[in-house]
Amino acid sequence: MNRIFSGVQPTGNLHLGNYLGAIRNWVALQHDYDCIFCIVDLHALTVAQRPEELRANTREVTAAYIAAGIDPDRCIIFNQSAVPGHSELAWLLGCITPLGWLNRMTQFKEKAGRHRENAGLGLYSYPVLMAADILLYKATHVPVGEDQKQHLELSRDIAGAFNRQYDTEFFPLPEPQILGEATRVMSLRDGSAKMSKSDPSAYSRINMTDDADTIALKVRKAKTDPEPLPSEAKGLENRPEAANLVNIYAALSGMSKDAVLNEFGGKMFSAFKPALSDLAVAKLGPIGQEMTHLLKDRGLIDGILRKGAERAGEIARAHMAQMHDIIGILRP
Ligand code: TYM
Repeated sequence: MNRIFSGVQPTGNLHLGNYLGAIRNWVALQHDYDCIFCIVDLHALTVAQRPEELRANTREVTAAYIAAGIDPDRCIIFNQSAVPGHSELAWLLGCITPLGWLNRMTQFKEKAGRHRENAGLGLYSYPVLMAADILLYKATHVPVGEDQKQHLELSRDIAGAFNRQYDTEFFPLPEPQILGEATRVMSLRDGSAKMSKSDPSAYSRINMTDDADTIALKVRKAKTDPEPLPSEAKGLENRPEAANLVNIYAALSGMSKDAVLNEFGGKMFSAFKPALSDLAVAKLGPIGQEMTHLLKDRGLIDGILRKGAERAGEIARAHMAQMHDIIGILRP
């Protein structure tokens, strides 16, 4: 059976982009693949985290997976640091990854900003740890949002480099799965910026735990333009805010963009926004409520993570032993 691996960083403010770009797609895929869904706490540490918040955010992402409909009996759900193979493999893969490949990563350039000399080594080697996550389980498919595409191409390159170096076909080359109408959800305040956990404006994103009033307020305040909606997708060109809201509506409703515009073409945002906010409340409300409910039972969440780590650890240990053999690492 083909295997999926994907993950979310426990850095707080899980939002509509994380849901539509990733988690929601996983729910549908869990029936057709052997799935491993990770809470990538080691990746979160590339930016300073408060210990209590990191713990709480790790549980929050776990609750989001389950509340969204991922079945912890069917899928493996665990936090990355609980399986030491991730860090070990990141080192092994780092030894075969040319700096030139990492220097191309746009996310590092964005996150490091102008003071690149001060950026941590972890932020720089972030994509190598991501490749390790995927390859440790020999995952064949990786469902993510558009922003992770470059990292996945690097994972494929690294897998190929290992296979060539050791003259083996040990690693499958993982395929990205970038699915749905909202593969890149944009900020509600700026149609040219990605919706992100770290945007200082709370109005830029709809969080998975927002209540109905908050969702309605954020949609009402979302930036738009003064034109009515076009009746076909071509009319959304050069209207990034309008395009974003239509994409969100399409993704949440399961309709195509054309079908949405067929219904709302010619109407003003004053008519479209209430429909969008009702839809978002209907889809996200129950998930947010279930998250809150699950988070009251720490024992349940921690038990799921513990069991997940055991199952993941078993696969990881077997693969690591095979890699030791291939590489020539002696285990006397
Ligand atoms: P993270 O935590 O930034 O995001 C988690 C998932 O949400 C998607 N996403 C979006 N999709 C659409 N629109 C947006 N505005 C948006 N923002 C985020 C991301 O594409 C991602 O799928 N590096 C990864 C975590 C990771 C990982 C992995 C993923 C670590 N190891 C191995 C897959 C496989 C990340 O930063 O995700």
